[in-house]
Amino acid sequence: MSKTQIKNVHARHVWDSRGRPTIEVEVTLRYGAIGRAIAPAGASTGSAEVHELRDGGTRYGGYGVNGAINAVNGEIRKRLKGQPVQDQVAIDHLLIDCDGTSDLSRLGGNAIIATSMAVLRAAAAAEKLPLWQYLGTLRGESDANVLPLPEIQIFGGGAHAGQRVDIQDFMVIAVGASSYAEALEWTADVYRAAGEIMAEQNLLQGVADEGGFWPAFDSNEQALVTLTRAIEKSGHHPVHDIAISLDIAASEFGSNGLYKLNRDNRELSSDMLSGLLVDWVERFPIVSIEDPLGEDDPAGLHRFTWAVSKRVQVVGDDYLVTNAGKVEDAADKGICNAVLIKPNQAGTISSAKSAFDAARAVNFGAIISARSGETEDTTIVHLGVGWGVKQLKVGSFARSERMAKWNEGIRIAEAISISAGGDLPVDGNLPPRSAFPWA
Ligand code: PGA
Ligand code: ZN
Repeated sequence: MSKTQIKNVHARHVWDSRGRPTIEVEVTLRYGAIGRAIAPAGASTGSAEVHELRDGGTRYGGYGVNGAINAVNGEIRKRLKGQPVQDQVAIDHLLIDCDGTSDLSRLGGNAIIATSMAVLRAAAAAEKLPLWQYLGTLRGESDANVLPLPEIQIFGGGAHAGQRVDIQDFMVIAVGASSYAEALEWTADVYRAAGEIMAEQNLLQGVADEGGFWPAFDSNEQALVTLTRAIEKSGHHPVHDIAISLDIAASEFGSNGLYKLNRDNRELSSDMLSGLLVDWVERFPIVSIEDPLGEDDPAGLHRFTWAVSKRVQVVGDDYLVTNAGKVEDAADKGICNAVLIKPNQAGTISSAKSAFDAARAVNFGAIISARSGETEDTTIVHLGVGWGVKQLKVGSFARSERMAKWNEGIRIAEAISISAGGDLPVDGNLPPRSAFPWA
């Protein structure tokens, strides 16, 4: 009997940052090591993500996860009992096989990702290692040698703020920071400055789903103007110190090549939206744009990538849904140059890792990302450091489901810097700043 054999798998009902039910899974090994993980949930989901199983009906507004919990405490527990945890790929195959559908709709992608993450955490616990270090050891490095560069939301929007503005995320990246801690400090300066500007203009109305300020703006562009002002007011240099990153999440306001910017009272063709974004790239210190066009608009995504990819990171989220095959196909077609890695889009740890490996193989950037519905779970921060993902996106600089992740990064950075004898630089692997029109 091996100490790494699974003795029990137990799922329970917990709550996420939107006050909605979600599933927590606890995996206990023979000698007592425990791994625990919670499934997050998106609001602006890509249509090809694995299926999140909700109960429907009236209880919990239809968001119940009792079906997913029963799947874990029934079929999944039975299948995993006695399995060794070191071979994550084998465990994930078992889970996918047990479900039997291509989109994990029978047992639920939420049931399966929570189980997959809990198994991984149990495997690290059995080795008495923090997860980031366990993963670093697996890839042949006694210590991970990279800390991801944080990408932090300042204003929320789109599906995370009742469509108050159309664009979903107005974020900053502290491209000039020399350490993870410095990147957080500079971002805190910008967040504070943005709050002061909002208060001065009577626009301060609380925060959106991911903790960014509620976007009480008259136009989408006003958010960009205010964000640039906030960077300047914070005392940091736009571009050299702190650059802007946008998640347009265009699938939320457009389909069939037609995009409706309600806040601006404009309807745009694919080329017109592309043109608007290129204009913004020229007028604002933007270094990264995610989902610039809809997931059903590969031709538009290709044209936009062609126009800006030398100077801007073009990130696929809804279009690539953390899928290795889609990343390879996009690289072939010249669509995007970076991918967002959200483990719950892929359904298992191993399929998320495959998407990250595919990105590396085709020379795409990668950002490991939380969802808009989150919890205190910090697994993605460990995955980011342990796998060597260069950027980390977990929402804003407020609300504890977000801060739990930034703070976990501080603990990991401290542990690494002690063993490395000094702070490790953060390097987001972004396009060279000299290429920006703003530089
Ligand atoms: P979601 O948003 O978690 O609501 O999908 C995050 C994102 O689009 O990056
Ligand atoms: Zn996105």
